Order: sequence, then C-alpha cells, then structure tokens
Amino acid sequence: MTSPDTYPAFPGWFFQRDDTSPDSHFYGPARLVTHIDDGAIAAVGQLYQELGVDGSSPRPRRVLDLMSSWVSHLRTAPSELVALGLNAAELAANPMATHRVVQDLNADPSLPFADATFDAVLCCVSVDYLIRPVEVLTEAARILRPGSPVVITFSNRCFPTKAVHGWLATDDAGRGAIVIDYLRRTGGFGEPELSLRTPVGRSYRGDPLYAVVARRLPG
Ligand SMILES: C[S@@+](CC[C@H](N)C(=O)[O-])C[C@H]1O[C@@H](n2cnc3c(N)ncnc32)[C@H](O)[C@@H]1O
Repeated sequence: MTSPDTYPAFPGWFFQRDDTSPDSHFYGPARLVTHIDDGAIAAVGQLYQELGVDGSSPRPRRVLDLMSSWVSHLRTAPSELVALGLNAAELAANPMATHRVVQDLNADPSLPFADATFDAVLCCVSVDYLIRPVEVLTEAARILRPGSPVVITFSNRCFPTKAVHGWLATDDAGRGAIVIDYLRRTGGFGEPELSLRTPVGRSYRGDPLYAVVARRLPG
C-alpha cells in the first residue's frame, strides 16, 4: 500500500466552494426528497445487498450512513443503523435509523464512535460536499472492523454551490479518481474499486450511479 505521504497536496482551490456560509444554513430546511432517480436508488440498494451490509445478511450488521437524510437506500434494515447528517428533521424521518447524530463534518471531521465497531460505512451522493474528506475517511477507517467496507456512491448531479471546486472541475471518470485518491490517502484501506452500477451505453437515460468500495486493512 502506498504511503499517504507519497501523494502531493491538493491545490489550494480544490476544496474551495462558492457558498462559504456554514453548511447548517444551506441544509437547515428539511429536504424530504430523493437526489437520484429510481434506477440509481435501486442500484445503491442492490450494491449494499451484494456487499452483505443490509438486513439480508445472516449476521448482525452495525452500519454508519454518513451524510444521511430521511432515506438510506438499504433494501432491508441492518440490525443497527447510525444515520449521521446535518438535518435533524431529515434524520428523524429515516425509518431504518436506530441512532441519529447531527454533526457538521466540515467543521468537525472526527466521528464520535469507538475504534473497529462498524461493519460498513456508507456515503451516498454526498462526498462532493466534504472539504476535509481525507480526515473524514481516515475516521471511517478507524471505526470499521478489519475487512469491512466503506461504500461511496455518486452520480452526475449535486448542489453546485456546496460542492468543492475540484469535484465540479472534472467529469464522472475524474470524480471516480478523486474518491479513489481520497481513500488511498487515508492509508487505512485496501485498493479501492470503482464501478458503474447502472447500465452502460447511450440508450440508458437515467442517472448514472458510480460506486467506490474499499475494505479496511487489518491492524
Ligand atoms: C444530496 S444529500 C444526500 C442525502 C442522502 N445521503 C441520500 O442519499 O439521499 C446531501 C446530504 O449531505 C448532508 N451533508 C451535507 N454537508 C454536510 C456536512 N458538512 N456534514 C454532515 N452532513 C452533511 C446533508 O445533510 C444532506 O442530507
């Protein structure tokens, strides 16, 4: 595994955003909406099921949904689901959540959980809003049990004033490379794998859904 020290720093503009006000302002009003279409949502649920992190797993699963809202896209509820996001009303409306944490990860990227106590960390269509993603994902590695996955999904739309400029400056392939780079920099995961989870080809008119999955290294 490459040492995080071997990677050059991001350019200064990379984590700048058009809207520099506290995130709690923008995310203050509850948005009980979906941010991707039904096909992309189904692809997320299918991926979680394949990875054995939802309630269909024969083993109990403690799962953290980072940057969560009223829906976590799991097909069936895991035994424990911690939903961490910015809007208390959205989290309160999440029917699968067993615990809820309101926290601004851009103000405080530390995760209030003990080491090696989760079976999966999920982050759906939200990684583009993080200005300290390597710190947050280093924390995700810390709280995951060895071998357990972090699952980061994204599509091709966002709240542009809140996404970091580095994300906005590239295309879908570039965004996959960014997420892989974030995860490599943590030093806590095996090699991340990027996949397109929705159909390939011009005839597919729905939202694309990309996933990057990496597993917590032992130790
Ligand atoms: C596009 S929505 C996605 C919500 C949900 N993950 C989904 O798949 O529908 C972005 C979410 O990120 C959360 N979020 C944005 N900035 C955040 C921050 N600084 N700290 C924690 N959560 C944040 C918001 O609360 C919002 O629910």
